[in-house]
Amino acid sequence: MFTQEQQIIEAKIKEFCAAHDIPLAELKWQPIPFSGEWGFATSFFQTAANEARAGKGGKPVPQRAQEMAEQVKAQIGSVDGISRINAVKGYLNLYFSTSTYASRVVDEVLASGFNFGRGTKKNERVMVEYAQPNTHHSFHIGHARNTILGEVLARLVEFAGYETIRASYPGDLGLGVITVMWIYDKLYKGQEPDGVHERGQWLAKLYVEATAMLEKQENETSEQSAQREAYDAERREMYRKWDVGDEYVRNLWRETREWSLEELREVLKMLNVKMDVWFYESEVDEPSKVIVDELIAKDIATDERPQGGAVIVKIDEKLGLTKEKYRTNVILRKDGTTLYLTKDLALARIKFEQYHVDRSIYVVDSRQALHLQQAFAILKLWGFPQSEKCYHLGYGVVNLPEGAMSARRGRVVLFKDVADEAVKRVLAVESEKSGDIPVNEREKIAYQIGMGALVYSMLSMDNNKDIIFDINEALSFDGRTGPYIQNAYVRANSILKKSGTFNVQPSTFDYELTKHEIELIELISRFPQTVEQAANEYRPLVMAAYAYDLANTFHSFYHAVNVMQTEDEKIRNARLQLVMAARQTIENALRLLDIQAPEVM
Ligand code: ARG
Repeated sequence: MFTQEQQIIEAKIKEFCAAHDIPLAELKWQPIPFSGEWGFATSFFQTAANEARAGKGGKPVPQRAQEMAEQVKAQIGSVDGISRINAVKGYLNLYFSTSTYASRVVDEVLASGFNFGRGTKKNERVMVEYAQPNTHHSFHIGHARNTILGEVLARLVEFAGYETIRASYPGDLGLGVITVMWIYDKLYKGQEPDGVHERGQWLAKLYVEATAMLEKQENETSEQSAQREAYDAERREMYRKWDVGDEYVRNLWRETREWSLEELREVLKMLNVKMDVWFYESEVDEPSKVIVDELIAKDIATDERPQGGAVIVKIDEKLGLTKEKYRTNVILRKDGTTLYLTKDLALARIKFEQYHVDRSIYVVDSRQALHLQQAFAILKLWGFPQSEKCYHLGYGVVNLPEGAMSARRGRVVLFKDVADEAVKRVLAVESEKSGDIPVNEREKIAYQIGMGALVYSMLSMDNNKDIIFDINEALSFDGRTGPYIQNAYVRANSILKKSGTFNVQPSTFDYELTKHEIELIELISRFPQTVEQAANEYRPLVMAAYAYDLANTFHSFYHAVNVMQTEDEKIRNARLQLVMAARQTIENALRLLDIQAPEVM
């Protein structure tokens, strides 16, 4: 926002340092916490420290830093738009005149619009992997937490300026998958229900039924136990056939898998998620066998097969760690099958080599933290520099008030059910008060609000914490919620609708601003740095918290300042511009949070 002034000042600092042979450190600017005046600051500590290290300076670092700040200040003189400059404790502080700052902020928002807050292009490609549930189950509320976190993170890094690739990696093989195929083939072939969601949900029911049939019962009769063992033998046989590529079993697998994927794609559409790349566990199985040999050849893995063992990686030992951290891991079993870890190694290599990913983010349940740390450590041993930029965004489990969710027991809350309920609840309230909105429009708005509540409830909590999912809480409209933020947008919108025409730019704020106006401008101005912070720290929560603060500040402004009844036309005009800037910023923040901005509510 102040690049021009910043550049003038930076040039003067560089000039000063060059003239005095001072080794200037990288100049970093940070905003000064607001206290009636806006400004930004840079420190000379690093430069003074560099100088000291080079054996020059001859003074304690803090003292020398302060001296530099004072000398630079004297050198700068006066700069347009900067109201005053001071040198305190090694910092150079620059302050703006309030009216200049206010119009700069507002004008910048209005000029950038949709792009307000977008970071400069970074020369790094980021891949965010999320929305990767196992197939042959249905999409539950825990998967929704994963998907929402991942999508918001992808939006944040993309908006911060990174080239971003969204990737999914469904688990489409293993015993769970075979279990569903087994019961389907045995009892239900050809009976699948119509409807994408219905069919996906039905597979989850089959899994519960199959699990019960295959599970050892208490006080089982010998007949029952023989029956169970026979079922299990059938299942094992099916698994074997799948492994050798038996055509019948593979077709069965492809067909049922597609039902799950169709449901997944439908859910992603509901959440406005557009995946760029689909990886599947089954597709990295073969490549993962190949890398085992490579890892042995590179002496990263140890082949204990000649001794009747497996292929293992002694991660700690290879990294030279004396304390146990990553442990020793199997990457190929005695029987020649690969593991989840082996597949992750193969997948990471594809991400690096075929997709040229510089940063690789995994949005995965926190319980898989060790697994991913092990994978990253092996990638490092393997020599991939990108392993340093692999990041696991973990998240806590979503539990139900009655306990953990369990796909085996069928004790899950399905995302689609919650979404439907959300719309129903909003419609019930809406039809009471907004009878004049046409029905289909009302349904669209109800969806936006209901989903806004659900999505925000997943973002407003620290991702590391477990959640006890309570539908009433998740769909609440009061307090720290999605609809509260959406409502700020709607209010801004309604002021602007009533306003008629007014000048859009440039704005003039040369009157005594109220506390509410100042606070609102302050929050709006913080949006770009919030994007940067949330993206660099991989923390959707930072943006979620900001959006709430912004909405809250707007609501206070709305109650305290009557924009339309402002007598002075110039002031009214400035306030309308401020409302417009606030609306834009709320809209941009909502968009990053994957929450829609309804026109009315
Ligand atoms: N499909 C796995 C699960 O549902 C998550 C995959 C995580 N991603 C990875 N690269 N391991 O637990």
